[in-house]
Amino acid sequence: MSTHNDDFPTDDPAVVTCGLPYANGDLHIGHLRGYIGADAFNRALQTLGQETAYVCGSDMHGTPVAVNAEQEGVNPEDFALEWHDQYAETFPQFNVEFDNYGHTHDETNTELTQEIVRTLDEQGYIYEKEIQVAYDPDADQYLPDRYVEGTCPYCGEKARGDECDEGCQRHLEPGEVEDPTSTITGNPAEYRERTHKFFEVSEFADFLTEFLDGLEGTSNARNQPRQWIEDGLQDWCITRDMDWGIDYPTAEGEDESDLVLYVWVDAPIEYIASTKQYSERVGTDEYDWEQVWKGEGEIVHIIGRDIIQHHTIFWPAMLEGADYNKPRGIAATGFITINGKGLSTSRNRAIWAKEYLDEGFHPDLLRYYLTTTGGLQQDVDFSWDAFQEKVNGELVGTVGNFWYRSLLFAYRNYEGTPDADVSEEVHERIQDAIADARAAVNDYDLRGIGQSAVELAQFGNEYIQRNEPWKLTDEEPETAAQVIRDCVQIAKAVGVLIEPIAPDKARRLWEQLGEDGEVADALLEDALEAPPRNFEEPGELFEKIEDDRVAELNEKLEERVAEAEDDEDEETESDDTAADEADDMADADVDDLEPLADDRISFDDFQELDIRVGRIESAEGIEGADDLARLEVDIGFETRQIVAGIKQLHDLDELPGEKCVLLANMEQAELFGVESNGMILAAGEEADLLTTHGDAEVGEKIR
Ligand code: 2FM
Ligand code: ZN
Repeated sequence: MSTHNDDFPTDDPAVVTCGLPYANGDLHIGHLRGYIGADAFNRALQTLGQETAYVCGSDMHGTPVAVNAEQEGVNPEDFALEWHDQYAETFPQFNVEFDNYGHTHDETNTELTQEIVRTLDEQGYIYEKEIQVAYDPDADQYLPDRYVEGTCPYCGEKARGDECDEGCQRHLEPGEVEDPTSTITGNPAEYRERTHKFFEVSEFADFLTEFLDGLEGTSNARNQPRQWIEDGLQDWCITRDMDWGIDYPTAEGEDESDLVLYVWVDAPIEYIASTKQYSERVGTDEYDWEQVWKGEGEIVHIIGRDIIQHHTIFWPAMLEGADYNKPRGIAATGFITINGKGLSTSRNRAIWAKEYLDEGFHPDLLRYYLTTTGGLQQDVDFSWDAFQEKVNGELVGTVGNFWYRSLLFAYRNYEGTPDADVSEEVHERIQDAIADARAAVNDYDLRGIGQSAVELAQFGNEYIQRNEPWKLTDEEPETAAQVIRDCVQIAKAVGVLIEPIAPDKARRLWEQLGEDGEVADALLEDALEAPPRNFEEPGELFEKIEDDRVAELNEKLEERVAEAEDDEDEETESDDTAADEADDMADADVDDLEPLADDRISFDDFQELDIRVGRIESAEGIEGADDLARLEVDIGFETRQIVAGIKQLHDLDELPGEKCVLLANMEQAELFGVESNGMILAAGEEADLLTTHGDAEVGEKIR
């Protein structure tokens, strides 16, 4: 973490944002992770006494929306507005409460975007350049971004026109994707010369290096961009040949431009526009957007890890060029997998927002699962089994159980909070939990926030068990009263601590305690304030998820994935929507398997491959590289250093001692500055490591 900033809470107002959802399809668990995470972080900042606003909006422009609208045969504006309305309704159902939820096509954002681009132009950061733009002669259309697919020039993975979403995650400039084909007709694209506008990102290299030095958040967001800067920053094409979007602003008297701004210009500006709308609604005395964005403010972005480059390079450069404040923190979440496989919207392997609610689950259960399974940065696997285990164990068994048993005992014996002082032991334990929560917020550690609450409830359960107040009420009434007084205080403290993660459950506990006001307004220190003297009979706040329910949910999920696969079989390849496919994380089903190449190699060729049995001695992630790990591998006669793309796919701590198979005479390479001396063999998208199962010795050759 940076040492440049004062800890939260500061005297300056903060704004918390999360990546804008493209208004182009149903929300699923992958989206929810970000919005819930940012909502929880915003609430947690408030428990510290930090003034904040939580803003977002729908991302209405660009090819992600245009392509899908075209497929539906509707105009992009109507299409996007419909999704926007649906999102605005859905978020509160997960207790995601934005202070403002706007959209990028509204007047505030349109005006602000044009103003910022004009400023960048006036400051001399924008220039014109002739470039080769992909064009589909049959469709008689230019092919920006998602209208074109090809191969990433950096990593060789399949990529869309503007991003390598299945490979290295880099932003790709127009013309960069290799072997481009049109997603409209499937034909190879032609290139045509066009004049476009460029933003001089390369001018900002020194500024960005310094900016990253002071940036807080997750390590992937702070480190990955350093490599891109070291590799040399390219200027950024900020216009597109499209109708849908915000027009490139022209000077008065000039002809209107036939170019629109690239979606990634106006999308982040919505962070500012949405904050502005909030200020306009509540009044600048209550919250001043200009103070945040132009004076002294704390800007925190919570984003997906696929959009780190946009937020740590392009966005701060734009802010700097137009003289706005820069983010204090950027936290990038990992991906979501379902039952260990990539979330796939086209294969219906997803948990949909609506589906979750229709199944009757309380939103706070999913909030808890998503924020406390792994940290913000880790990939999170969702399965109904793991969900059941976490809910039944931590929420029902620990938090709910403690709340109910302590409040019920207090109600039955004292009609509320007994008249006694909190013991020193419990006072200190609550203080420790508060300190843990405070540190977790400052570390952008959502899991830590949840843990501070659950561990305190765990302590509460042990405390009640250890003191057995039910044995004391008759013979030692004072001790019994004091133990229960402690328990009621712990129950209240758990409520305050868990509110950012499970706001509705905390609100109900607050009601049960007969507290005035809202738990959402409570500060961490309020956890030590005495609860009201009297309260009503409490009810249980969490309910166990039964095994048969989980079996039923698993079956439903399996069935619909199978159905989607059957449907896919029936479709011709050209019916596959590029956007759908590219929206999915890479996952390999049997249908995806590459056919065998026709040409064979000779036995002599095979003999040239020196494939050996090895044993992994150590494995550690390479800092700054999202996917790469450095392994030391014993191959009998020497130990090799090998770089492998397995950082996200394996628990590196588990690897030492494992046997593996490697290509030992692979030419040397250097990846992220680390020499690699061999290639570990692995199968499939999840990098299942090849090994041997018999008595083959380390160093033995594979024949
Ligand atoms: O990748 C996406 O889904 C984009 N819609 C995120 C935009 S975030 C922004 F506004 F900066
Ligand atoms: Zn790539």
